[in-house]
Amino acid sequence: MKRQEIKGILQSDAIGSTIKVSGWVRTKRESKNVNFINLNDGTVLSNLQVVADVTVFKEELLKKINTGAALTVIGELVESGGQQRVELVAKEIEVIGEADPDKYPLQPKRHSLEFLREIAHLRYRTNTFSAIARVRHSMIFAVHKFFTDKGFFNIHTPIITASDAEGAGEMFQVSTLDMSNPPRKENGEIDYSQDFFGKQTNLTVSGQLEGELAALALSKIYTFGPTFRAENSNTTRHLAEFWMIEPEMAFFDLNDNMDLAEEFLQYLIKYALDNCIEDLTFLSQRAQQEEKNKPQDQRSMELIEKLKMVSDNEFVRLTYTEAIQILQNSKPAKKGKFQYKVEGFGTDLQSEHERYLVEKHFKKPVILIDYPANIKAFYMKVNEDGKTVAAMDVLFPQIGEIIGGSQREERLDVLTEKMKAMDIPLDEMSWYLDTRRYGTVPHSGFGLGFERLITFVTGMSNIKDVIPFPRSPKNCEF
Ligand code: 4AD
Ligand code: MG
Repeated sequence: MKRQEIKGILQSDAIGSTIKVSGWVRTKRESKNVNFINLNDGTVLSNLQVVADVTVFKEELLKKINTGAALTVIGELVESGGQQRVELVAKEIEVIGEADPDKYPLQPKRHSLEFLREIAHLRYRTNTFSAIARVRHSMIFAVHKFFTDKGFFNIHTPIITASDAEGAGEMFQVSTLDMSNPPRKENGEIDYSQDFFGKQTNLTVSGQLEGELAALALSKIYTFGPTFRAENSNTTRHLAEFWMIEPEMAFFDLNDNMDLAEEFLQYLIKYALDNCIEDLTFLSQRAQQEEKNKPQDQRSMELIEKLKMVSDNEFVRLTYTEAIQILQNSKPAKKGKFQYKVEGFGTDLQSEHERYLVEKHFKKPVILIDYPANIKAFYMKVNEDGKTVAAMDVLFPQIGEIIGGSQREERLDVLTEKMKAMDIPLDEMSWYLDTRRYGTVPHSGFGLGFERLITFVTGMSNIKDVIPFPRSPKNCEF
């Protein structure tokens, strides 16, 4: 007999038929005559209730049916008198893999997220983490669907590179040299010409620069790959390894770029609401539970309501300079409540400022544009005022910056001057500058931090819980 998946079984109306299922035991409840076994195979949030008559099965077998054990059950699907629509009356049960109840770390009770992070190899077996995994998959699919439907091409950009796209120097080095005794040049510096690639290399912080090369031939492309940042920030919004989606479009100016970013985010959130409602409803209840521990004024909106708020409302667009004015006139600034002071033009906004604008001032997602040139990356287009660049950051409730992007500097002379001023080696970036030398055109793009999106969509409060195996300072288990 062919095994059926629980997702299909729970939707089916094949009452009276004999079916075969396999999965892992979530809970077992023993009553006088029967054992109720909740079986989950991960295809869907809900469990299938298996009813095992104690007179049919040997005690020896029933004893092996513990939380975590894997079973295959053949039985008759019947209408259920309980909370669920259907249940399975077992005829045959095989314990495929046992789980010692004294040792299995996941007990049928609520575990803290911190504890589950320590056993991340098993946390998929909880409702919360299987729900997140399914939502994450749906969002990956929706990203590809959105861009495919719009005629974008997906480009694989390199993971090992010799450049620092963001110029922030937050790179993990890639080397096969003997670290305890590296070859040295006469002046004592490490001789990277003897390294694997014959030069110093690192893991990419962004696929943008290579994405630009493709966009300036194919018109519209996007990347979706892993990125790595050796930022020493152990926050609920930062990972050392995360996934980024970076569309890049020739002939797009900053307004076109903002329109696309807004449409993209609303599409993704609507896709989640339309396709993941069972998991989202569960995650919403989970988040509500967590919110209860917070003081009243710090509690956030119910998850589904929050998602609808973002998918149904136009984002607010304003300049960095306008935002600075709002922040300087704000209550928390006047009362000295911000941890980082808003000094004026040139202040790099912190997440507390971003969240104030979104959550308290506008109560909507915000797109900030025209940032001071000196706090943004070298490739952003210099505005006519000469001191700001055509940057855009999309700010979300709870998250702060979810997207960072810009119109790119397409003028060779302006770009080279800027790179010189920022000490970016022109000869090593000659390939990048070739796009400006030959057939240069205005173009724009942005990067969406995939885990920041998933944090928002699932209502989780820590980014480390929305990627299966998080990497952060001093943490690289599994
Ligand atoms: O703003 P960032 O640094 O922009 C870039 O990398 C550009 N090259 C994108 C582009 O224009 N093509 O990063 C983009 C987004 C951020 O808005 C944030 O959502 C996410 O990436 N991000 C991180 N997510 C998790 N952990 C980190 N350490 C992150 N750093 C950035
Ligand atoms: Mg940014």
